[in-house]
Amino acid sequence: MAIERTFSMIKPDATQRNLTGKITAKLEEAGLRVVASKRVWMSRQQAEGFYAVHKDRPFFGELVETMTAGPTVVQVLEGEGAILKNREVMGATNPANADAGTIRKEFALSIGENSVHGSDAPETAAQEIAYWFSGIELVG
Ligand code: CMP
Repeated sequence: MAIERTFSMIKPDATQRNLTGKITAKLEEAGLRVVASKRVWMSRQQAEGFYAVHKDRPFFGELVETMTAGPTVVQVLEGEGAILKNREVMGATNPANADAGTIRKEFALSIGENSVHGSDAPETAAQEIAYWFSGIELVG
């Protein structure tokens, strides 16, 4: 399988509970390498822009509130099949449906406060990485 890069976020519900290290350890144990990382407190405009694909969904307002409620750690992860691997380690969007051992099963509070986000495809990974990072910030 090819070496890929994917975008990951540790959401405010997790940073507020001081889970950045525990979540990053799970990503690293799965063979993913953090090649960029920074802590941001996103503005409403940044959150609305990042999640624009969901702007007509009924949960959009709550999503923007949740993502601007505290700091987020935005990361770029690299590894073999990184996009799928990251989604496997994260677990299902709704923690009630997440498999044992996944980040969301262990740490998420609800579907809205589900601790992490990860890109779902190569195109979205490229877009989401470019939304938060410039090329020189990616250090493999
Ligand atoms: P994420 O992977 O960041 O992508 C969009 C987010 O919207 C999702 O995780 C959830 O945290 C949030 N969300 C809130 N309600 C829902 C819902 N009913 N269905 C899907 N996502 C939801």
